Amino acid sequence: MNQSSSKPRDPRQFIWGAASAAYQVEGSPRADGRGRSVWDVYLEDLHLAGPGISGAVAINFYDRDQYLKDIRQFKELGLTGYRFSISWPRIMPDGLGPVNPAGVAHYRRFIGDLREAGIEPMLTLYHWDMPAALGAAGGWENRQSVNWFRRYAEVVFANFADIVDLFCLINEPIIDCAFTLAARDRRGGSNAALEFFPDRPKLATTLKMLNHILLAAAAAKESFDKRGYAGRLGLALPLMPVLTTDDATDEDRAAAVLADGVINRWMLEPLYRSKHPADIIAFLRDAGLDAGVMPEDGATIGRAGLDYLGVNFYAPLFVRANERTVAEPLRPDGVECAFNGPVMPGQFKTLLDRLRTDYGNPPVYITENGAGFPGDDVLVDGRVNDVKRAGYITGHVAAMHRAIADGADIRGYFLWSSHDNLEWFSGYEGRFGVIYVDFDTQRRIPKHSAEVYARLIKGG
Ligand code: GCO
Repeated sequence: MNQSSSKPRDPRQFIWGAASAAYQVEGSPRADGRGRSVWDVYLEDLHLAGPGISGAVAINFYDRDQYLKDIRQFKELGLTGYRFSISWPRIMPDGLGPVNPAGVAHYRRFIGDLREAGIEPMLTLYHWDMPAALGAAGGWENRQSVNWFRRYAEVVFANFADIVDLFCLINEPIIDCAFTLAARDRRGGSNAALEFFPDRPKLATTLKMLNHILLAAAAAKESFDKRGYAGRLGLALPLMPVLTTDDATDEDRAAAVLADGVINRWMLEPLYRSKHPADIIAFLRDAGLDAGVMPEDGATIGRAGLDYLGVNFYAPLFVRANERTVAEPLRPDGVECAFNGPVMPGQFKTLLDRLRTDYGNPPVYITENGAGFPGDDVLVDGRVNDVKRAGYITGHVAAMHRAIADGADIRGYFLWSSHDNLEWFSGYEGRFGVIYVDFDTQRRIPKHSAEVYARLIKGG
């Protein structure tokens, strides 16, 4: 193997990157023996993003001619890292085996091409595209999913641990669960993602799936360590400070604590304290619900000792009390809202401070941060003047810098996203890229925010 595709640069060097996910960018759903994923079912069969909208073409990123051009653009921006996901059904078309060598070869080539350009890969194993056969067998709700994922992860490690240092095991578990529940009800559209807190019986399902996801990550980590691979493993969690509005009642504030328990602590406490949060366990018990948590699960998750925490931050979440579940999200007045919620960079700092003070200052990668502002990405005379996104990025990078100055152990920042791409149930309307994509022609045009991000990187 040549030097450029072998293992990495100095891990202490801060990574400035961008992120994407297989189904959102690749297209080529039948190339090289790829199997089907649940997202093919959701969008191609059930049309949950609307008629004719799916990842069948996306931004054509599976095509090497195309992605080599994109890598050149990454280099021009000054990116030193790229976070991407590999598609489980490209590696194991039916989910459990056999392994598809053509899928493996594709990603090895891609990683080699990134390294050739001096770009450090962060490989996400699972960004929601569960093989359709496993989705049909219950997905993460089935406790067997822990073993399914371990098996897949072992194949990934065996085929990539020699050329990848940074592995992100699973992306944004609770959003994946929210989408899964929505798809089961045949609910698509952009609001589906916001169902973090389904009505009580389904809330138990969400918490059960999340526990299995944590156990799956722990099983993968254990297996990685046992086989003596070198590399760093983490999860990417969509952490959200949970807030109430000025007129909140005591009930609203209590609901915010529970909401924080579901969204943040249900994941962080097993990982860093080897136990599930007592208030959520009590809530389940009082409601007569069962999330299937076994007494030893917390310890199993904590013992695995992930190497870093991936933080995906977009916005804080405002909530109020709601009788049917733990809390109900709301849109606050008087705060600018992007596609994913209120723009409040100070809350990013608050979150990073909390990880430092309450969870032992773990090594952190910002695995996603970015924004979409509907209607803001208009192409005029060949330019996209996305000033809001540029301001968002600048404000959040500044907040991260303040957190680092206060002692947070942050190792890198991956902007979401390099390109406009398929925004799940919202289709191609939710643009998040710093590079504009004309989805008809696949033409790329760096936006104003790309120049701003490049300047930030240059300034270090
Ligand atoms: C995620 C997401 C991305 C979304 C982004 C914008 O991990 O939530 O991974 O897939 O596109 O968050 O909403």
